[in-house]
Amino acid sequence: MPRTLITSAIPYINGIKHLGNLVGSQLPADLYARYCRARGHEVMFICATDEHGTPAELAAAKAGKPVAEYCAEMWQVQKDLADGFRLSFDHFGRSSSPQNHRLTQHFAGRLDAAGLIDERTSEQVYSVADGRFLPDRYIEGTCPNCGFEDARGDQCDNCGKLLDPTDLIEPRSTVSGATDLEVRETKHLFLRQSQLKDRLDQWIDSQEGWPVLTTSIAKKWLHDGDGLQDRGITRDLDWGIPVRKGDAPWPGMEGKVFYVWFDAPIEYIAGTAEWADATGGDWERWWRTDKGADDVRYVQFMGKDNVPFHTLSFPATLLGSGEPWKTVDYLKSLNYLNYDGGQFSTSRGRGVFMDQALDVLPSDYWRWWLLSRAPESSDTEFTWEAFQTDVNKDLADVLGNFVSRVTKFCRSKFGETVPEGGTPGAPEAALIARLSEGLATYERHMDAIEIRKAAGALRALWVAGNEYLQDAAPWSTFKTEPEHAAMQIRLALNLIRLYAVLSRPFIPDAAAAMLRAMGTEDDGWPDDVSAALAVLAPGHAFEVPEVLFSKITDAQREEWATRFAGKRE
Ligand code: 2FM
Ligand code: ZN
Repeated sequence: MPRTLITSAIPYINGIKHLGNLVGSQLPADLYARYCRARGHEVMFICATDEHGTPAELAAAKAGKPVAEYCAEMWQVQKDLADGFRLSFDHFGRSSSPQNHRLTQHFAGRLDAAGLIDERTSEQVYSVADGRFLPDRYIEGTCPNCGFEDARGDQCDNCGKLLDPTDLIEPRSTVSGATDLEVRETKHLFLRQSQLKDRLDQWIDSQEGWPVLTTSIAKKWLHDGDGLQDRGITRDLDWGIPVRKGDAPWPGMEGKVFYVWFDAPIEYIAGTAEWADATGGDWERWWRTDKGADDVRYVQFMGKDNVPFHTLSFPATLLGSGEPWKTVDYLKSLNYLNYDGGQFSTSRGRGVFMDQALDVLPSDYWRWWLLSRAPESSDTEFTWEAFQTDVNKDLADVLGNFVSRVTKFCRSKFGETVPEGGTPGAPEAALIARLSEGLATYERHMDAIEIRKAAGALRALWVAGNEYLQDAAPWSTFKTEPEHAAMQIRLALNLIRLYAVLSRPFIPDAAAAMLRAMGTEDDGWPDDVSAALAVLAPGHAFEVPEVLFSKITDAQREEWATRFAGKRE
């Protein structure tokens, strides 16, 4: 049995994610995980919340809660929303877990033993009133270049000049507004990524069939400018994973924590260890090539901004450890989804957020639209018009209508059992040939994780059934040749079951409703379309399901467009 390890980029803990975040990694990862399971793979699908870093600390402070309590609550919120969107993680972990503490400290110890860590002293801005060092972007002041009063410590948004916090005139802390800022010396650990440049270069060259977007981003970071930079992997913060060398203290690093981007990808492994601890499973057979992971195919999903961390930084951690860790085999990166003429933005509350989306419509509507329009080759845009058009056409008119017409017609003429009689002829043979070819196309695109193409191929299968029904016209045939109509409808009822099986990775709730209505638990992926269309035998009972997909009315569309035009509270 093929074994497939799938990870989605882990969402930051602070705040509810918007639909752009969802389609950037978790949703396509779920599609692929569901598909692999349907094809008989043993799948391990891991995601988690990314809980460390200054934004998490500040969000907790804003909520007036201790950061650990804030993170625990927000993990539950994100978990419930993931369930609402039917994201089928085998485990949804937390980067603050004890397992991640242990593994992150372990990797740091190994990297140090391999001579890949330096201690360096640098000067950083310390806010006396806040009692903390401030990351550059949390310092604002007047730009020395253009006089803009709200320039950030890393860059002036007005004139674009890159800045050092010490360049700012009258700098202040954006955490508290405090102006008693000092420059203090502090010591940090640096991962000597530059030492690993050749190994990473070779490792990237040895990957087969990575998407162009992925490889080009990785190569650019490896070769452009000064090449791969050494990277600070520790921070002066309270909340995070304490800096230790494995089990041992790290002299001089007391009170410091690892940088969030150092521990976040390690959580993919730690999340699997969390799963193992919760279920009695074995996580090492997914991650250690000396313990069985050599036959695992590891696929990662992420937005394009995360690619450098996954093609360079995380592999640097794994390769640099000198241990036999599983590295990624295929990395699927996505572009951005924009919202109605601008960007989705968490900080500005712009767009539709996961909780709001589920308040408006069930998850399948969103899953279908987001996946069938996934931003693969370029950024794409969510508009309410496009959403309405696609949902109404694909889901309501094509798939939903097929299911409703076939089941209702059968109930009225033959009752709620699969009718017997009749002999298939040339139109049925032609349909089977078309479906067989279409299925092969669908599988090819799904295997290649070409999401939009796969959605198009699935839609084409739905269309083939509709066209057959339209041409066969059992409502006419029934008048003169009822047995022939029975054969046509028997085929169409079987097609509903087949559609449920094939559509499940995209629209799992509708697929489950279709299988329930067809009174079957036979959800095996078809080897052969002909055989798959004979599963429901004459006499088998079914039910007419509730309406699968309602159409979005113009009034609803306008109401939602207005409701979500402003800033989220
Ligand atoms: O961009 C983000 O949302 C990050 N929290 C992704 C981290 S992915 C990985 F490294 F774990
Ligand atoms: Zn400026």
